[in-house]
Parts: sequence; C-alpha cells; structure tokens
Amino acid sequence: MSQVTEYSDKVIDHFMNPRNVGEIENASGVGTVGNAKCGDIMRMYLDVDDNGVIRDCKFKTFGCGAAVATSSMATEMVIGKTVQEAMKVTNKAVMEALDGLPKVKIHCSLLAEEAIHAALWDYAKSHNIEIEGLKEPVNDIDETEEFYKMEEE
Ligand code: FES
Repeated sequence: MSQVTEYSDKVIDHFMNPRNVGEIENASGVGTVGNAKCGDIMRMYLDVDDNGVIRDCKFKTFGCGAAVATSSMATEMVIGKTVQEAMKVTNKAVMEALDGLPKVKIHCSLLAEEAIHAALWDYAKSHNIEIEGLKEPVNDIDETEEFYKMEEE
C-alpha cells in the first residue's frame, strides 16, 4: 500500500456514519481494550450462533476518528464469518478495506483488531473451544469502571 497521509473517503464515511455502533445484550463474547498511549478505549460485542458463525457484531468506543472508522469497518467484515475466519480480519485487512490510514493512525486500527480478539477470546473461553492463532489479549481491560465513568461524563 502506498504511503497515505490523509484520510480516504472510506475512512471519512465510516467515521461520519459508523456502522454497528451499540451493544449486544447477552453477547456471546465481549472484549474491552485500551491503548495506554492515547488513552482510547474500545469495546466489541459478538453474537455467535451454534455453528460458530458471527451473526452480529457491535462496538462502542471512546476513541479517535480513525478508531471509530476502523472498528466500524471491522464489524462489517466479521459479520457472517465463522469465529475462525474472523481471525483473518487483521488491522492490515481493515486498513486495506478503508483504502489506508495515515501512518500516525495505524495504532488505532490495532485497537479494533485487539478488541475483536478480546471478544473472540471471551467467546472461546466461555464455550470451551480453541480458536487457532488466538492469544490471550494483552490489553484487555477487565473491569470497566473507567469505561463507565467516561460514559457518564
Ligand atoms: Fe488512540 Fe486513535 S489516537 S485510537
């Protein structure tokens, strides 16, 4: 991908009209991650059917525009995939689908990937299954006091 210095039309579209914002009640998996440097937080919800297919995916974020756009695109990309296939929705794949991101914003797309992985991890743990290539999330913020505090502000 060539070096991108500004936001693509797709990034702007997903930032202005983010898809799948919200929560899923009784989600099959939930993951919350944060980036220590910028302080942004993202939570991803998955609804997975009995065949391991992601029926729905929603997100909430207290993050920058690039984090909103990448999460929005990531949710669209994982819906309809199996939990195993969702592992292929990497930050690179999401960035490509968005026609790139400026270099200083690449870490924002990582937050989306990490949030999906954290939600997949939560699903895998509660269903006692293993998802190939999935590692325990390092940035998982387990208790979300901070998240709620921010929400009330
Ligand atoms: Fe923190 Fe973008 S600046 S996620």
